Amino acid sequence: MSVQIILGAQWGDEGKGKIVDVLSENVDIVARYQGGANAGHTIVIGGKTTALHLIPSGIFREGIVCVIGNGVVIDPNALLNEMEMLRSLGVETRGRLLISHNAHLIMPYHTLLDSMAEQGMDKIGTTKKGIGPAYIDKYARTGIRIVDLLDRDSLCVKLRRNIEEKNLLLKHIYNAQQFDVDKIIEEYTAFDVTIDEYITDTAAYLNNAIAEKKNLILEGAQGALLDVDHGTYPFVTSSNPTSGGACTGLGIPPTAITDVTGVVKAYTTRVGNGPFPSECDNETGERLRTTGGEYGTTTGRPRRCGWFDAVALRYASMINGIDNIAITKLDVLSSFDEIKICVAYERNGRQLKYFPSDARTLGSVTPVYETFKGWNDDISKYMSFDKLPWRAQEYIQLLERLTGIRVSFVSVGPGREQTIKL
Ligand code: IMP
Repeated sequence: MSVQIILGAQWGDEGKGKIVDVLSENVDIVARYQGGANAGHTIVIGGKTTALHLIPSGIFREGIVCVIGNGVVIDPNALLNEMEMLRSLGVETRGRLLISHNAHLIMPYHTLLDSMAEQGMDKIGTTKKGIGPAYIDKYARTGIRIVDLLDRDSLCVKLRRNIEEKNLLLKHIYNAQQFDVDKIIEEYTAFDVTIDEYITDTAAYLNNAIAEKKNLILEGAQGALLDVDHGTYPFVTSSNPTSGGACTGLGIPPTAITDVTGVVKAYTTRVGNGPFPSECDNETGERLRTTGGEYGTTTGRPRRCGWFDAVALRYASMINGIDNIAITKLDVLSSFDEIKICVAYERNGRQLKYFPSDARTLGSVTPVYETFKGWNDDISKYMSFDKLPWRAQEYIQLLERLTGIRVSFVSVGPGREQTIKL
């Protein structure tokens, strides 16, 4: 039996979708624990590329049950579009997808408020999917949950109260569009009918599965450095992608977790604003972006690119209890004559031993690099560690040494088969 958390250990977009898809071959359940349709998990099967935003990446393997946990915020349109997209690919979600009755809903005013806030001076660079405003309501205890759709009278009262408040904000602060309660109620009641058969008490379902010794993957979205508590606040998402979030976002006790796998790119990327010490805002960054196809799956925004940051990974490992890492996109480094790894930070002439998660301090550090010769060979065709050029092997071993974490998988291309197990 295993209950394995698979999470992003950088700033998101590490290639979690592919790793979850590959590792789910022998599992029974894949459960998503936080975030919403701000995520974009790309999976390539038989040369065909698909992007998932809400539904767990295990959906492409027959026989696996996928769960959207209570910690996720659900945009009905995004969910229905994704179910439709899967249906068009011949993937049936009926009987294979369970949605927590306690998950909060993203309402149209959340999306608008997110966009409005991003027009101000202090931009976070959000995906504008309504994530922050939906979690604000969750923590203010005024949010609308899936279970609220069952009781139309109390839904009307709650919604009316919410909409009156948001309309005031939209009118007086943002001078923006107002919302009509009845229209929203109609829309969400219709949504409730469509998804009724998927809704259940997923915490009870998952704990029963654990008691029956089933194998589970708990899938994180975004990345550890975007965690609202432990990331580079305020340039973070509004949930906990870190391993603790898997417990609260699914109702699974910490004692049930057997492994934590951190997914990292062989280099680093970040979308949105905020400090990024090893960023290469130059020709090298442009080359990483072009070679790695580094454009957002959800928003299409160009990602900021830079070298691998071992200091940041040591921090991510500490806060998540990572026991092994899966390295993705090693093939992207193949054409570089020289490859750098950030091994430490310097600030005011002194070396920092720890990753400062405070954004201002992190924004003022200078990265210290070690430089290595590249392998200059197309490694996307190699299927085992022994076949890799020795300099590529050395790079992997070096990452293990610098971070003190075992490498379990190396991905050398987008396909399922382009994954080397160590
Ligand atoms: P939000 O999650 O849309 O509120 O955006 C907050 C921050 O998280 C922004 O910097 C986004 O670019 C970033 N972010 C959100 N989702 C993802 C993701 O799936 N990958 C990478 N960055 C993300």
